[in-house]
Amino acid sequence: MTSKEEGRIMKVISLRLALQTAVLAIVFSASGRADEIGAVAFSKSELQAKLEYCKTCHGLSGQGYRGYFAMPRLAGQQPKYLENQLRAFIEHRRTNSVMFNVAHALSPSMVSALAAHFRELDPNPIGGAPKERLALGKTIFEEGLPEANVPACSACHGPEAKGQDEIPRLAGQLFPYTVKVLTNWGKERGLGSAKDISAIMVPTTHNLNQSQIAAIAAYVSHLK
Ligand code: HEC
Ligand code: HEC
Repeated sequence: MTSKEEGRIMKVISLRLALQTAVLAIVFSASGRADEIGAVAFSKSELQAKLEYCKTCHGLSGQGYRGYFAMPRLAGQQPKYLENQLRAFIEHRRTNSVMFNVAHALSPSMVSALAAHFRELDPNPIGGAPKERLALGKTIFEEGLPEANVPACSACHGPEAKGQDEIPRLAGQLFPYTVKVLTNWGKERGLGSAKDISAIMVPTTHNLNQSQIAAIAAYVSHLK
């Protein structure tokens, strides 16, 4: 090997090393930045383990579970709504001791990843709601009850009850869960001193009677 060739090889090697160092530097600074904004603060298997934990209660496809306590459907839920509710449990704006314990152990980046996962799930509604008053439920959903000052739910929750941003999807939600939520609104949501978007629902939940609540909960539970 001539000294000229040797020199060229050395140059190539040192160029490669420089390149590798540069790549590593980029990777490290990228992961540093990602940590700051919380993008990759956990491994795939940690996410998987959390998901399995959520699904022991919320159903294998996030479809909800009809037990002694109804576990709400999370499948297809709006990510911003889901994230806001998890924060609400942590901040005691929303009371539920089970979900307080679950939520306060989650990092912000994990919350976002979980929300993105549940958004993608699309199982059929679990069903099981009474069918007698579906027509009344549909009317309230689409037109409200002007004489009782109840607005059309579709105005905010969307014509197909899919929700948007902080407004939740209601389609396919379990009947007993929705009945409970609408009945207990003032006792469970928007608690504490901080202003909370749940205030929007206060007049509506006040003005609906129990049979209207049952009708609307049954109607949305069947929507895909
Ligand atoms: C031990 C059972 C259990 C586990 C595990 C559990 N949850 Fe829940 N979750 C509940 C119950 C019960 C409710 C209903 C609370 C209520 O009635 O306000 C709920 C409610 C929620 C809500 C509010 C739904 C809505 O429509 O407003 C979200 C979001 C949620 N859970 C997310 C999760 C996530 C994410 C996980 C996993 C990290 C998880 N849950 C694990 C029992 C559980
Ligand atoms: C002006 C907009 C608006 C209208 C009209 C409206 N909602 Fe809501 N609704 C919201 C918002 C915002 C939330 C989320 C509240 C929170 O974060 O706690 C919500 C939450 C809910 C929830 C809780 C869902 C869950 O998973 O816990 C139910 C149930 C609900 N609305 C039913 C209805 C029904 C039924 C009607 C019609 C009679 C209606 N809403 C009309 C804005 C609206």
